[in-house]
Amino acid sequence: MTKPNDLLWWQKTIAYEVYPKSFLDTAGQGTGTIEGITRKLDYLESLGVGALWITPFYKSPMVDNGYDVQDYYEIDPSFGTMEQMDELIERGREHGIRMVMDLVFNHTSDQCAWFLESRSSRNNPKADWYIWRDPRADGSAPTNWRSIFGGSAWEWCEERGQYFLHTFAKQQPDLNWECPEVRQALFDVANFWANKGAGGFRIDAITYIKKPAVFEDGPADGEDGLYPVHAATANTPGILDFLHEFKAAVRDGRDIFMVGEANGVAAEELDQWVGQEGVFDLLFEFSHMHVPMGEAEIWCRPVTWELTDLKRVLAASQKATATNGWYPAFFENHDQPRSTVNFFRCDGPLDQKAKVLGAVLLTTRGTPFLYQGEELGYGNATWKSIDEFDDVQTHAQYDFAKTEGLADEAALAACTRFSRDNARTPMQWDSSEYAGFSTAAPWLPVHDDYATCNVAAQEADPNSPLAWYRKLAKLRAQRRELTAGSWSELMATDEQVLAFERTLDGARTVTLANFDATSASYDVSLVEGLSVLAGSQGQTTPGTLRPLEAVIWG
Ligand code: GLC
Repeated sequence: MTKPNDLLWWQKTIAYEVYPKSFLDTAGQGTGTIEGITRKLDYLESLGVGALWITPFYKSPMVDNGYDVQDYYEIDPSFGTMEQMDELIERGREHGIRMVMDLVFNHTSDQCAWFLESRSSRNNPKADWYIWRDPRADGSAPTNWRSIFGGSAWEWCEERGQYFLHTFAKQQPDLNWECPEVRQALFDVANFWANKGAGGFRIDAITYIKKPAVFEDGPADGEDGLYPVHAATANTPGILDFLHEFKAAVRDGRDIFMVGEANGVAAEELDQWVGQEGVFDLLFEFSHMHVPMGEAEIWCRPVTWELTDLKRVLAASQKATATNGWYPAFFENHDQPRSTVNFFRCDGPLDQKAKVLGAVLLTTRGTPFLYQGEELGYGNATWKSIDEFDDVQTHAQYDFAKTEGLADEAALAACTRFSRDNARTPMQWDSSEYAGFSTAAPWLPVHDDYATCNVAAQEADPNSPLAWYRKLAKLRAQRRELTAGSWSELMATDEQVLAFERTLDGARTVTLANFDATSASYDVSLVEGLSVLAGSQGQTTPGTLRPLEAVIWG
């Protein structure tokens, strides 16, 4: 059993993800800045945040909003300067908030000096730094792999007369981890940021770094005749050797944490990935995200699901990390639609839905990772045309839907439902023009509801989602069973209530969350001897839950 005193700082805190381009613009340019994050440290502290994951701010052509890194040692000028980053790290410490840097190590930008050199000839010093292959006899790409952002995963390079592999956009060539100099160059980058005082790292797309020994075609799964690249390359045997080397070079001996983004790792394999014997401290796995989206992540192929499906995978993740490793709990990030839409099958007020999810997230076992705006209960954006979307993946999914024969309207509906841009609209600070995010027109339009759904309005309303998140963050800090306690599911087969208890040394907290728009009942013996610590809709009646009500007893 975990003892409170055994917990490390990052296990006891709340983490928060900032998408800097959309957080706060202090330069009047329509895109966010590092200084904007520094200005909001008080706000983050009020949510109990102790670790701040900032998505890439390195120099980048921004084809994928910074996940195409041109120079790992420079700050992109749109975000500010290295001095401003140093200041953020230092000021963060004063607020008890450590910065968590995003390491994009599966690929670089095609404008990175490493790639420019590698592509220049077949025999330059960096010739092997990326994944180069000869064409087939007919000149076509080496395999039928489809990149995650659509189209072939291979791009032709005239200078070398070869193709290079890109798991994501063609401007994001994959690095060759087999090459020892590549690994060393990446470890140097991580050490540079760790030496600057980073509190941890989020490691991007890490399950794709090891490619299979033999590259082969896979069975086509769509009208384009292609096969998903990650089905051929994710979590390939031998990957853990690379990652143990990474851990030894960067993590060992430091009071930091590493969280890997790990699509393709099954719950049964978790022991090898996290904990004492593993390579990371935590792993973002996506089994719950796949419930509403489907495992293939093809937005135009709708899936049907029940709350019990979601409960089953959440319980499996808890079980997998009960005695080994630590669970990063999350319902949103910059790659997902808003959770108030994603995890509910019923209509109903978004603020109530946000509180239901907040109750689960902030009382579950693991480190909660909040995503900017989640605490306000945003919905998805409501745009009328595909041209309004910026995200490279959204356009690829739209095009794919068209090749599958969908009409414009249906293809657009799939994007509206699942687009990553839903999470990337500017943070809503107040009701002034552009929601207080910027004085200039923002790079993505502000959400329609900003005049009422914003930080200033919610700070003035004790019943707002923001007030609820702050309250629960305090509760979490006060009650040790909420961090160190064990987790057990209650009412596992119930189709509308998600419920669990946390226990430690006789202390007990019970969370009951009704995900449905009809009222629900539960056995009062579950909360016998306990009193209400927090109710999302005020006074509550034992044994019943109102539609979309969450109650925490303890
Ligand atoms: C990760 C990031 C995503 C990015 C991709 C390529 O999945 O979270 O935003 O597009 O990797 O770097």
